Amino acid sequence: MGKLDKKVAVITGAASGIGRATAIRFAGEGASIVIADLNREGGEAAVRDCKENGSSAVFQLTDVVSEENVKGAVDRALKEFGRLDIMYNNAGLGGAVGPLENVTADNWDRTFAILLRAVFLGIKHAVPAIRKTGGGSIINTASIAGLRGTPGLTAYGAAKAGVISVTRSAALEFAKDKIRVNCICPGLIATPLTYNRIPGGEQTATQLFSAFQPWKRAGRPEDIASMALFLAGDDAEFVSGQAMIVDGAATSGFGSLNPQQGQQGGGQMSQILDEEFSGPSFQMKKPS
Ligand SMILES: NC(=O)c1ccc[n+]([C@@H]2O[C@H](COP(=O)([O-])OP(=O)(O)OC[C@H]3O[C@@H](n4cnc5c(N)ncnc54)[C@H](O)[C@@H]3O)[C@@H](O)[C@H]2O)c1
Repeated sequence: MGKLDKKVAVITGAASGIGRATAIRFAGEGASIVIADLNREGGEAAVRDCKENGSSAVFQLTDVVSEENVKGAVDRALKEFGRLDIMYNNAGLGGAVGPLENVTADNWDRTFAILLRAVFLGIKHAVPAIRKTGGGSIINTASIAGLRGTPGLTAYGAAKAGVISVTRSAALEFAKDKIRVNCICPGLIATPLTYNRIPGGEQTATQLFSAFQPWKRAGRPEDIASMALFLAGDDAEFVSGQAMIVDGAATSGFGSLNPQQGQQGGGQMSQILDEEFSGPSFQMKKPS
């Protein structure tokens, strides 16, 4: 028996990286899934992955900035599978990156729309459906960047800090409905979001990220999928309003970064944050 048998999930940003790994993991545990993403090609591939893992899945073209689209993803779950148990608001990008003085107000707003407003919309439209089910789980993807300052990532970090705050308030508001609301703060995870912008791609990113935190390997999308599975399932029945950090001890305290390697990693990381706006991964792919 799977941990999510008979449960239905909407996962935004599930065409790639963390969302896709989570969809595959949920599918293996018996959930039916709506893959909600802007990226049709990646989304349809994720649907095939979920089906191969023994579950039902459909793709719903979704721009998480659009309230109509987000509601459409929830409605699709109800239409296809008759209920909603789990909403995972995960879609994201780097957004407005680079020195704060160079960030345009428009790019700041776009970043907040995709990373924070979308989480509000996802919660708003999932709650009535999950309430009808009798309760369930909402998961949001925040970041360790929402817990600490990061030069060059001001808008991203501020939006992710907002995700943590929205998570806590919503957890308080919907506990009476048996709806748990938590977020995950990933550390550096090797996904297209991070490695598409690094010369040398995934291989270089993996080496760079292994030097970033005490746990000497790069974070994997599956590390976050494991936490999402815990939060989605009944084992987490008494867990709500929390920001769960999955970062190989990167934020544990003084000395958690290897100073030399951390600086090297930081230097290379800041080089890749020089562009104005880091868009959805599938649009940012550079020909190799
Ligand atoms: N990779 C990391 O190191 C890391 C660390 C902390 C937090 N995160 C967060 O994890 C989440 C997933 O990122 P990932 O690393 O898997 O990246 P990814 O680029 O592999 O996946 C992101 C997905 O979001 C989708 N997306 C982007 N904008 C969208 C929009 N407007 N509407 C619908 N879909 C949209 C993309 O098409 C893509 O499929 C993001 O919220 C990101 O901020 C990632």
